[in-house]
Amino acid sequence: MIVVQGLMELTWQNSFPGVWETFIDPPRHTLTEFSGVPPATSLRYASPLPRPERISCNKVGHHIVFRIPLLPNEYLFGGGLKFQRVSIDSEVYHLRMDHSSGVDNGCSHVPTPFVATTAGFGFFCDTIDDVSLYMATAQRYKDKDRIIERDRTTDDNWRCNNPPYFMEIAVNAPGVKAVIFQGESLRDCICRFNLYCGGGFLPPKWGLGVWHRTNIKMDARQVQELAADYKRHQIALDVIGLEPGWQSKAYPCSYDWSKERFPDPADLIGELKKQNIRVNLWENPYVSEHSSIYQELKRLSGSHLVWGGIVPDYALPETRKILKKHHEKNHLDYGVSGYKLDESDGYDAWLWPDHAEFPSGLSGKAYRNVCGVLFQRFTTEMFKARNQRTYGLTRSSNCCAVSFPCILYNDRYDFHEYVTALCSCCFTGTLWCPELHDAKNAEDFLRRMQLIAFSPMVLINAWATELRPWMFPEVETAVRQVLELRQQLLPYLYTAFARYHQKGLPPIRSVFMDYGYYLQTDNSAGKLDATKNPYQVVNEEDINDQLIFGDSLMVCPIAPGTKERTVLFPPGNWYDFYSGQLISQGKDRQTFPVDINTPTPLFVPENKTIPLLGKDKQWTLRSFGPDPEPVDLYEDDGESDLYLRGQFQWFRLYPDGRREQIQKEDAQ
Ligand code: GAL
Repeated sequence: MIVVQGLMELTWQNSFPGVWETFIDPPRHTLTEFSGVPPATSLRYASPLPRPERISCNKVGHHIVFRIPLLPNEYLFGGGLKFQRVSIDSEVYHLRMDHSSGVDNGCSHVPTPFVATTAGFGFFCDTIDDVSLYMATAQRYKDKDRIIERDRTTDDNWRCNNPPYFMEIAVNAPGVKAVIFQGESLRDCICRFNLYCGGGFLPPKWGLGVWHRTNIKMDARQVQELAADYKRHQIALDVIGLEPGWQSKAYPCSYDWSKERFPDPADLIGELKKQNIRVNLWENPYVSEHSSIYQELKRLSGSHLVWGGIVPDYALPETRKILKKHHEKNHLDYGVSGYKLDESDGYDAWLWPDHAEFPSGLSGKAYRNVCGVLFQRFTTEMFKARNQRTYGLTRSSNCCAVSFPCILYNDRYDFHEYVTALCSCCFTGTLWCPELHDAKNAEDFLRRMQLIAFSPMVLINAWATELRPWMFPEVETAVRQVLELRQQLLPYLYTAFARYHQKGLPPIRSVFMDYGYYLQTDNSAGKLDATKNPYQVVNEEDINDQLIFGDSLMVCPIAPGTKERTVLFPPGNWYDFYSGQLISQGKDRQTFPVDINTPTPLFVPENKTIPLLGKDKQWTLRSFGPDPEPVDLYEDDGESDLYLRGQFQWFRLYPDGRREQIQKEDAQ
């Protein structure tokens, strides 16, 4: 135990290797208590407590304020889901669960109170109270010796942003639990954080195939026709997601089947299962007075209505018991494979207010913060009790739900925002799905299809359209090619999820996570423009459109309507996945012309091997560079929870075709 003197005395307790916790009284609700998932036991590697003598803390009015010194060239990431930027230096975020407006101000579907740095340092406020993050923006008088005053009129190096000496994190509560992480690198810090939150989830294998969500008005017959259409077009469909119309009432929901549209759900689900197609159901957490469980839930609900429906309090075991019984009897027993948990992020104008009251004692604001997590926990536990894996979607979450098999989505549809979210979510303990729900033209459709093929879920969400993968004949071949590549990469991707579970490494992540902030910073002021740039702001360069997919593949999605693609190569030698040619010797910027026939640019670091599994179950190993390494792959039954009891194996494939079984500890 180490006692650190600051303005307040903090006691940092070394609870796991490389992880320290401190509790400032009085005790408050933590985020992690709502997931009920303990830290994973695989946290290894002990390091000394970082910067102990310099992290200070004081109480200011209603706030507890942590002040954390930064090292020279230490860059910051995290602070919740982002849609514009991945790195967060010089930004301020007031974290709040909300429908995202596309502006990165802290209001988002995933307001995770966690910041990680390129020095492998992480700071987490494990609280459901309000947190504000001042990311290298706060200057104090007592630091005057470090601050250089510059004259704007005469000094070209004047900048409006403060130098990055400190970050300050303010919690609006009388008590808080804070956690420090120290890893060997940014990537190691994130792994440590994810393991602390329970370790990443492992989806069922079928969940990594193609999903199609139906138009809200579809009935059972049209759903069967949809499945037949996929078969006719020879595109393997793995999951059909039924949108609101499967219920007798929606917005608010009944959770009862519509007798008109779905007279025999067990038969429909059984028929689809014979074709290897699973069914996933849409829900939101607001209950209609026409629901068969409305009366039971009424007294267990919050003070306010949403769309006229009651809001059952999922924090109460009794509420969960009623909902569980209903879901098991009417959905799971029929063969439903999972859920899409919609609308839990809320939108102020139609959600309950912050001052709403919930029977568990949580305030409206606090309940909003954890509603999506409780919802995910509820569905995860139902399937777990059946030794069955599930995979689904949620529109709100938080880092403590890292082990719940749900991914994030929203209704915004900007391509760049979706790619940025795919990159930034890895710093929040969640994964993002850049779903495809509409297309302006064939090219738009193809580029979005190519994007979802390199995401955690290949999801066509046609809830408001009639979109189908074969709708644009001019790009059908390219669509088939990318779906086939995804299919061939499935064991590689599944292995990446196994790493997420066992080591905490997100299967899809920002290039910064693996390579740090490898860009040049510009210390001069920006160009003065009285209208467009009155403060001469220079935005630090960011990379929000390059992903690491699985172990090492760098994916550079092409945005619709573009004629060229610029790639900022990380350090090291890089090879083109398709041609096998050496493309870059690292840390350079290259621009490639693209047209409709250009597949998503994929690059592989030197000496890596990418395994592809053909339809004939034969491996093709693509190796790059003069001295290719073998590749490690994970295998289990793909759908039960037996892997949690050790029923899995790792094996190593060598570029010369040899295969050998290896221990979990040896797997890379
Ligand atoms: C939205 C959701 C969409 C779709 C729709 C159905 O809130 O984001 O994906 O499910 O509801 O009404």
